[in-house]
Amino acid sequence: MKIKAGFLQFNPVFGKVKQNLRTIEKMLKEQDFDLMVLPELCTTGYQFVSGAEALSLSESPGGELGGMLLKLAKNKNAVIVAGFAEKEKDKVFNSAMAVGPEGILSVYRKAHLFFKEKQIFRPGDTPFVPVDTGFGYRLGIMICFDWIFPEAARSLALGGASVIAHPSNLVLPWCQRAMFARSVENRVFIITANRFGTETRDSGPPLTFTGESQVITPAGETAVKAGPNECVAASCKINLSNASPALNEFNHLYRNRRSELYRL
Ligand code: ACM
Repeated sequence: MKIKAGFLQFNPVFGKVKQNLRTIEKMLKEQDFDLMVLPELCTTGYQFVSGAEALSLSESPGGELGGMLLKLAKNKNAVIVAGFAEKEKDKVFNSAMAVGPEGILSVYRKAHLFFKEKQIFRPGDTPFVPVDTGFGYRLGIMICFDWIFPEAARSLALGGASVIAHPSNLVLPWCQRAMFARSVENRVFIITANRFGTETRDSGPPLTFTGESQVITPAGETAVKAGPNECVAASCKINLSNASPALNEFNHLYRNRRSELYRL
């Protein structure tokens, strides 16, 4: 089964939620896709100075972003995954929602918070379980720094995900190359949707995000990749039947695990 899947890479303006929403809507309206992944914290920007600031810019999954994504998902008959600052009463999570034509499919809250995110967000409390998209495949979500914990992608793959959506605001230089291993070892497609640009705020040194969003296949091939400073929505056809844990008739990458020998 083939789907058209990709990412939207742009440079969100810190704190300008409505402006960022308009940018996203305009870029997505022009695209044809079955699955589209947007960056982490795509409507707010990244470098909050306090938890209170993050809370003031956050929204519930059914808010303005969710409403806009639902309209687009209906219009395109597609699934969209987007990272956002999620408000739950007085708590704020670094979350991502998957939205399909019928509504919100799932909300994942980032488990492994990076650096000063620990001073801003609550740690995620949602397990790494993929969701049935209703289009004949299961979709997993992990957010940015989750990549460095191989258990995250592994759990999603063991749960039957054939595609992992990976909204990101990457600042370290390793992730895009490391996704080769995550894809190959789990035999899944991984779509990293990263932002680009530099944010300068009072809470620390300026942060530069690395762009280079990409779609990696279960064979470790780069199906499509953006430049480091490119504002682009890009997609490609991916064959989901290639997301199979059976490497050959002898080696099944899930069943051949030797859990009794691992220290987990
Ligand atoms: C990150 O997890 N946003 C680096």
